[in-house]
Amino acid sequence: MGGQADTDPIPLARPEIGAREEELALEVLRSGRLSLGPMGERFERELAAWLGVGDAVAVSSGTTALHLGVRALGWGPGDEVLTSPFSFVASANCLLYEGVKPVFCDVDPVTLNVDPGAVEAALSERSAGILPVHIFGFPAAMAELEALAARHGLGILEDACEALGAVDSEGRRVGARGNLASFAFYANKQMTTGEGGMIVPSDPGVAARLRSERNQGRAPDMGWLDHGGLGFNYRLSDLAAALGVAQVERLDDLLGRRAAVASLYEQGLSQIDAVTTPLAERGAERRSWFVYVVRLADDVDRDAVIAALAERGIAAKAYLPCIHLFPHLRELGYREGQFPVAEAAAAHSLALPFFPAMTESQVASVCEALARSLT
Ligand SMILES: Cc1ncc(COP(=O)(O)O)c(C=O)c1O
Repeated sequence: MGGQADTDPIPLARPEIGAREEELALEVLRSGRLSLGPMGERFERELAAWLGVGDAVAVSSGTTALHLGVRALGWGPGDEVLTSPFSFVASANCLLYEGVKPVFCDVDPVTLNVDPGAVEAALSERSAGILPVHIFGFPAAMAELEALAARHGLGILEDACEALGAVDSEGRRVGARGNLASFAFYANKQMTTGEGGMIVPSDPGVAARLRSERNQGRAPDMGWLDHGGLGFNYRLSDLAAALGVAQVERLDDLLGRRAAVASLYEQGLSQIDAVTTPLAERGAERRSWFVYVVRLADDVDRDAVIAALAERGIAAKAYLPCIHLFPHLRELGYREGQFPVAEAAAAHSLALPFFPAMTESQVASVCEALARSLT
């Protein structure tokens, strides 16, 4: 498929775009309805149906989904929101956009998701909410976090940007618990629109607010130069939505093939002592495979491993740096050593090439090259 030879470089990620995406994109181009047209609504309906939720609001990215979520929850200056330091930076930046302080809490060493015990310990009278991130597609401990939120009157915004298709401890799809939840469709995600995002509203009033704020504060019955309040241009174009519709149609297949690649990796790497593979499932919890990130033993020189893989044309990446150590969060007083579990994960984790079209022999090449680089 695609003329891939075994000696070709193996990228970290590769989207799958085919005839159906082309067909629907062409439909949009020929319709002349490039924004706020029927394809955008269709994408929202189809993703909502796939998730099993009543509604979903398409936006321009996962970051803008999170930003509108923060606003919908009414979090603002003086508020603190408890969240994970082991995430992509957008899950903290969306709080900073609204003057909210991210209060980081260490993560669970197995799931790498925020630890509910650490969240409870970090509560203060300024706590307004919890922003759990389902990191690398493994569901966060939502039942515990929701119980905590209920006891302390906190709002919840789920960052499900990496977790479309994950299943939680109660067998529910991530994003379908009634909390505000954001998804992202950048090109390396489980499904892509190039750039794009979706936010699942918690009720119809919130949905109306999200739709207005993504569209410059307009209500549905307002003209282009009418604005009922502060808004943004966070719209998703109908061309992007066309890709989204096509990708939702094949989402089960994409997710199934990602899971199959992950299981090939598990077989190929389970015998290597210096490598710990990611948890695929635990009880009812099931990971939606976004990236394939392994943990290297503490004494392994990760940069040397990355260089050795690169020499053989295999992309690999240190993944992820902790958010609290970026300069703009250090300004809030965050320092090394505050979140030892997250910091150790950041220091020793490695993302390997991972995409649905990866062949058995490509996975074998990566496993073999990784094993060799460790001896
Ligand atoms: C955990 C997490 N949150 C938020 C985002 C932001 O999504 P986007 O890049 O679409 O703005 C991403 C995407 O990389 C992510 O992985």
